[in-house]
Amino acid sequence: MDRNIPERREPDQQWWRDAVIYQVYIRSFADGNGDGVGDVNGIRGRLDYLADLGVDALWINPWYLSPMVDGGYDVADFRRLDPLFGTVADAVALFQEAHRRGLRVIVDLVPNHTSDQHEWFRAALRADPGSRERARYHFRDGRGTNGELPPNNWRSIFNGPAWTRMPDGQWYLHLFTPEQPDLNWDNAEVREEFDDVLRFWLDRGVDGFRVDVAHGLVKDPGYPDEVEELTPGLFTHAEGMDHPFLDREEVHEIYRRWRKVLDYYPGERIAVAEAWVFPPERLARYVRPDELHQAFNFDFLQRPWSATELRAGIDNAIAATASVGASPTWVLSNHDVVRVVSRLGLPADTDTKEWLLSDGTMPRADLERGLRRARAAALLTLALPGSAYLYQGEELGLPEVADLPENVLQDPIHRRSGGTEKGRDGCRVPMPWSAEEPNFGFGPGGEPWLPQPSEWAMLSVTEQRQDPESTLLLHQSALRLRRSLPVSGELRWNEDAPAGVLDFWRGSALRCLVNLGTEPGELPEHDRLLLASGPLPREGGRTILPVDTAVWLR
Ligand code: GLC
Repeated sequence: MDRNIPERREPDQQWWRDAVIYQVYIRSFADGNGDGVGDVNGIRGRLDYLADLGVDALWINPWYLSPMVDGGYDVADFRRLDPLFGTVADAVALFQEAHRRGLRVIVDLVPNHTSDQHEWFRAALRADPGSRERARYHFRDGRGTNGELPPNNWRSIFNGPAWTRMPDGQWYLHLFTPEQPDLNWDNAEVREEFDDVLRFWLDRGVDGFRVDVAHGLVKDPGYPDEVEELTPGLFTHAEGMDHPFLDREEVHEIYRRWRKVLDYYPGERIAVAEAWVFPPERLARYVRPDELHQAFNFDFLQRPWSATELRAGIDNAIAATASVGASPTWVLSNHDVVRVVSRLGLPADTDTKEWLLSDGTMPRADLERGLRRARAAALLTLALPGSAYLYQGEELGLPEVADLPENVLQDPIHRRSGGTEKGRDGCRVPMPWSAEEPNFGFGPGGEPWLPQPSEWAMLSVTEQRQDPESTLLLHQSALRLRRSLPVSGELRWNEDAPAGVLDFWRGSALRCLVNLGTEPGELPEHDRLLLASGPLPREGGRTILPVDTAVWLR
């Protein structure tokens, strides 16, 4: 099979094990047609940027036909693109153009639920209780004398009850919004349909799938009440307990089934789980040899800026994935969480929901410190063994836009919480490509779907390209150097490092130090300084490693 993907390592190397995968939040990456929303042709126009940056693959958030109640995570047809984003032909052209540049493409797969506009759900609404059409979803009679109470006490992850009642009296389950009815994975038709959806995209050249809510697909068929009345947040996790709808044993059958579909295709097609499952040993069950290839490491994402905390997270992830023969992933942010620059610029105990509600005023984030830390965190994650995910804009050091006015907010979390949660729009603001052009070059014409702060001119790609110290060029240098590292270099800690400093070797090729303490440190003897996340002052013949700074040495 000729996919024109240059093999930069031994031919039997599994590309994904150490890949850097760039997350394209399609609505906000690049707008090709000037309607204010990013699209496939916008991405096609920026492939050279991604190739130059030095990533190995992109993962694109949902682009399917959708009423956009949850930013495209409400899919009305898994085999069509929404006209906002383009056509299947555009998608195929994107796969080919990406492959020509040595980039692989992963698409989002949303198997937990469909949109209420999906033809299956519309048919289920028209059909009778007990019908084949309703059996594809979770339709139940209610409790109480007249079935007026929901079937159980499950709560939606986006606030409110997880059940909505139909005019004919039955209730249906939705872990997210009522416009996102949950599919019934005990139903053979559902399983067959998704095998076919996988093949549809694999046949068209996709390199893999990011599996949405991978830990939520299977529900306890007895629909028992949750033991403790959980009020789940988006990222509620199952701590290895028998939960009625999270991290159930039966989900693994589904992944074994998909792995067979993926392995049938040449070229190492992969799947990565979005599973908010803790601890890491529990998560590792999703990446056993006959299941998925990777799982996002959200344990790492949630750890505070502390050497002991991060080291424990790194050790746990490496050990847990090694125990099943997989490799770890490293994630600093994504389209569901506060951007890393802002998070690391806030006091560690900040409740980010409260902070967002205050429009980012209580407390104010120290963005200089946040950026310093985010740059150091980038060098840390890119030095670790395994695969790293980079969310668009992380390479520019974009902060969260915490003060978006209420009238522009689109995240259903905001609406469903009755305004007591601001939601995730602040990390989804369209990319600034150029300081000079209207809408910072996001697209020709049309106002972007979320307003961009005027300060983002300074953070735009064109500005950062001219500044050798910029966050963009730091990422580019790190990614280039990373490519030259031997993959097999195992991580070995320097146990004598001063408190607050992470210090490790990757084989013999690289040594990485990160100062997460409160005192400046000193660089150890080295042959060459490869890269530093910030300035390194000299003092009496010694080189200082300032607080919140990382270096790569040889
Ligand atoms: C995942 C997505 C999130 C979406 C939710 C429902 O957590 O990352 O953006 O809202 O699933 O599909």
